[in-house]
Amino acid sequence: MILVTGATGAVGREVAAQLAAAGPVRILARRPERLGAFGNRAEVVAGAYADRQALDRALRGVTSVFLVTNSPTEPDDERVAAAAAEAGVRHLVKLSMMAVEEPDASDLITRLQRENERTIRESGVPWTFVRPRTFMSNTLSWAAGIRSDGVVRALHGDAPVACVDPRDVAAVAVAALTGTGHEGRAYAVSGPEAITAREQTAQLSRALGRPLRFEELGVAAARTALLAKYPRPVAEAFLESAERQRAGAKAGVVSTVRQLTGRSARPYSVWSADHADAFTGRDDR
Ligand SMILES: NC(=O)c1ccc[n+]([C@@H]2O[C@H](COP(=O)([O-])OP(=O)(O)OC[C@H]3O[C@@H](n4cnc5c(N)ncnc54)[C@H](OP(=O)(O)O)[C@@H]3O)[C@@H](O)[C@H]2O)c1
Repeated sequence: MILVTGATGAVGREVAAQLAAAGPVRILARRPERLGAFGNRAEVVAGAYADRQALDRALRGVTSVFLVTNSPTEPDDERVAAAAAEAGVRHLVKLSMMAVEEPDASDLITRLQRENERTIRESGVPWTFVRPRTFMSNTLSWAAGIRSDGVVRALHGDAPVACVDPRDVAAVAVAALTGTGHEGRAYAVSGPEAITAREQTAQLSRALGRPLRFEELGVAAARTALLAKYPRPVAEAFLESAERQRAGAKAGVVSTVRQLTGRSARPYSVWSADHADAFTGRDDR
């Protein structure tokens, strides 16, 4: 049995769906209602990482785990790795991030992910780290501005990023979970090309069949917008990360998707066409 966490999120949902198409899968979710109808295609255990009893129930009879964490304050990787070690799990595939292997990246989130990886290495459970670049799905945060006035507002409009489709990140994770020889390996995962926010806006405009305008946000305005959604240390980490993008640090393309799945990584034009409904009001995500 494979246990998938984060199945209400961008990558975990895809991992669970891809695995469920081939065999039985178990999901640990703290808010199972967010799984929607998909919850019927898997065995669902309700609970958060801090709930050790729920974790133990979820890990019973499990050989492999897909782990997604995103709390800057909770020791969730430690909790899951310790329970997985005790349960005799044979392989833990962790969703990490590409910046951990880039020495110039020193923002809070990257530092925490480096710590999380270290915790997992030291847990004794064989591991694989999947380290994606920025998810294409982050641009769903543009939906409100697009719906209301046809404007995309973002920082550093001309800074390229080799953003990746979460479906491709998931396919790499599924290859690691279901294949052999991936223990002790870390896989950087990018999309097929580096693309700027201005270019993404143009591609979204084609996908939606309506004109969109790009408006570059200054750092102060971006900080205000981030502080409305995140605690200050997290908002500052996102700004530091955006500054690395402005300086060109996120443009590198890697061929991991092709190497592990045999298919090419999807470009943003495909992601935007497949998710056009999310920007039109017909699909309120
Ligand atoms: N976004 C990016 O561009 C990007 C790029 C590279 C790497 N990453 C990495 O990918 C990971 C996920 O990214 P994200 O923030 O965008 O996440 P996300 O897609 O929102 O997924 C987070 C998932 O983790 C679940 N979760 C969080 N805390 C939990 C807990 N205590 N117990 C049970 N489930 C819990 C969430 O459940 P709920 O639905 O209940 O919240 C959700 O399903 C992070 O580690 C991040 O560093 C992200």
